Amino acid sequence: MLGKFTYENPTKLYFGEGVLDSLPEELRKVGKTILLIYGGGSIKKNGIYDKIIGILHDFEKEVIEISGVMPNPTYEKVEEGLSIARRQKVDFILAVGGGSVIDYAKAIAISIHYDGNPWKDYFVELKDPTCEVVKLGAVLTMVGTGSEMNTGSVITNTKEKLKLGHAFSNPDVFPRFAFLDPTFTYSLPHYQMVAGIFDIFSHICEQYFSGEDDNTSDYLAEGLMRSLLVSSRIANKNPLDYEARSNIMWTATWALNTLIAKGKSEDWMVHSLGQSIGALTNATHGMTLACVSLPYYRYILNFGLKKFVRFAENVFGVSPDGLSDLEIAKKGLQEMETWMRELGLVLRARDLGMTLEMIPDLVKGTVVMTTGYKTLSEEEIIKIYRESY
Ligand code: NZQ
Ligand code: ZN
Repeated sequence: MLGKFTYENPTKLYFGEGVLDSLPEELRKVGKTILLIYGGGSIKKNGIYDKIIGILHDFEKEVIEISGVMPNPTYEKVEEGLSIARRQKVDFILAVGGGSVIDYAKAIAISIHYDGNPWKDYFVELKDPTCEVVKLGAVLTMVGTGSEMNTGSVITNTKEKLKLGHAFSNPDVFPRFAFLDPTFTYSLPHYQMVAGIFDIFSHICEQYFSGEDDNTSDYLAEGLMRSLLVSSRIANKNPLDYEARSNIMWTATWALNTLIAKGKSEDWMVHSLGQSIGALTNATHGMTLACVSLPYYRYILNFGLKKFVRFAENVFGVSPDGLSDLEIAKKGLQEMETWMRELGLVLRARDLGMTLEMIPDLVKGTVVMTTGYKTLSEEEIIKIYRESY
């Protein structure tokens, strides 16, 4: 294990079908005024909104709502939400939705009592909140980001053409609790389900593809990836398979709650490339990652060959017999591509609205990571965008 570290995760998880019945236990602990944050309306169609409003009213909570949080939430929407949230004293924030809603709720939670410029300070300069952070909890309806059990928040500034994320160090940014009912995800369109599955896989890869040491975190990562491969193939054919959907939900949470990053340097270059595409196209997060992953990994294969061999053998079950290390590693990525095609992921960024003319802006918005197997030069980034196109 690399270096010294601390591990703290205060999020209490409630998992399983019908688990929302325990929401009153948590509501009892919080004040009267609840800021309820949700997205574009899926929770009104599938009945989750009615269930939650019913429970809040039973507890005589005063409810303020912010609705219409869009996928890839914008900073403009954060400013709009702040003007609502600051009008009265909010005791607690309840975020109901996917990563976009929870990330947005965190941005609101850290900004309500902040006098500075949240975009510049939190997302560009990556400062941590020093003001009071309003406590929040989450009810998850879309699986992928891990936002339900981490301090990450990703916000898009459309004017500046930047999509930037920050994993805050301040533990107050973790949701106090998260309700994970796999059946809440049944109403997700197939496109969103598979995008979320790839997001999970990518989170694990970002943490796995770094370092040369024998690290427990890598063994945990391999187990999570193997479970995800099995369950995703089942859910792809039968989205109502509870066992598969519940495994995927649990895997997503553990993929990005800092556990498997412990003792690792991590990479995150795929997310940096994908987020830049997202900033310019507003495409679905998981699909942007799908487009850049294979070109990136094929490019860095030689720099982290040992790990790519291990990935091929331990995650995709590639038999090493009679093959060179390079052949084994390439076969692993071939198997990964086969799985991605099976799920129906978008593999060409042009299909997400990317154009070649966007490349200079894409490069500008790409944060270069230095902790993976290869620190990319500008020319190399351009090459990867061209290959992803
Ligand atoms: O807005 P509604 O109507 O609710 O529709 C949403 C949205 O259109 C829909 N949806 C969610 N639950 C549903 C449902 N539709 C039917 N039934 C349900 N049960 O799904 C669409 C996508 O939702 P969204 O929240 O945008 O997806 P996701 O969870 O993938 O979140 C993506 C955002 O999270 C950020 C991404 O960059 C992106 O902005 N990320 C956050 C991270 C973190 N906090 O650590 C890390 C990730 O790498 C990621 O960057
Ligand atoms: Zn992601």
